[in-house]
Amino acid sequence: MSLGPGGVTISPAMSANVILVGFMGAGKSSVGRILARRLGRCLVETDDMIAAKEGISIPEIFARRGEAHFRAAEEEVLALLALKNDEVIATGGGLPCRDGRPAALRRLGTVVWLSGDFDVLYARALKAGERPMLAGRTREDVRALYQSRVPFYAQADLAVDTTTLTPEQAAAEIQRAMGVRGRQTAPGATR
Ligand code: S3P
Repeated sequence: MSLGPGGVTISPAMSANVILVGFMGAGKSSVGRILARRLGRCLVETDDMIAAKEGISIPEIFARRGEAHFRAAEEEVLALLALKNDEVIATGGGLPCRDGRPAALRRLGTVVWLSGDFDVLYARALKAGERPMLAGRTREDVRALYQSRVPFYAQADLAVDTTTLTPEQAAAEIQRAMGVRGRQTAPGATR
C-alpha cells in the first residue's frame, strides 16, 4: 500500500469485487449496504452465506457447533466467493485472519480495510447485536484479539479509517479513493 490523497492508503491492484474487511464494529455491513447502493451492485455478506448454509444464526452456530465449525464454514464460503463478480462483499471480522486468506481475498478484487481506533470499534461492536467473539471476553482480551488481527487486515489494497466517519462518509471515501462511478445506464435503457 502507499499513501494516496486524503490519507487513504491505496495499491495499484484495483478490480472486480470490492471486499470489505475489518474488526467487529468497523461498519462492514452498513458501509457495504450503502456502497453497494452507490455503485449499483449487490451486497454479499459472508456471515449471511454461512447462516443460510447452516440453517441457523451465527450466534447459534457458535453455541451449538463451536467456533472451529464456524471457521471451517468460512473456508468453504471463501471458495464460493470465486463465483462472485462485480459485487460488494462484507466479510466477517475473523475471515481474513488466517495465513493465505488476505492473498486469497485480493485475488477476488479490491480489498478495503475499514480500520479505526480500537476503543471506538469496541464500543460500536458492543452496541450492535449479539457477537459471540465478545461473549466472555474482557475489553483487554478483545484488544489482544484486535491486535493479533491487524497484520492480516493491513494486507488490504486500501485502508479507510472509520473512527470519525459515518457509514455514508466511509462509503463515499471508498468510492472516491477507488475512483469508481456508479453503474452507468445506457442512453434509452430502462432500469
Ligand atoms: C467474528 C465476527 C462476526 C462474525 C462472527 C465472528 C470475528 O462478524 O463473523 O461472529 O471473529 O470477529 P462481524 O465482524 O460482522 O461482527
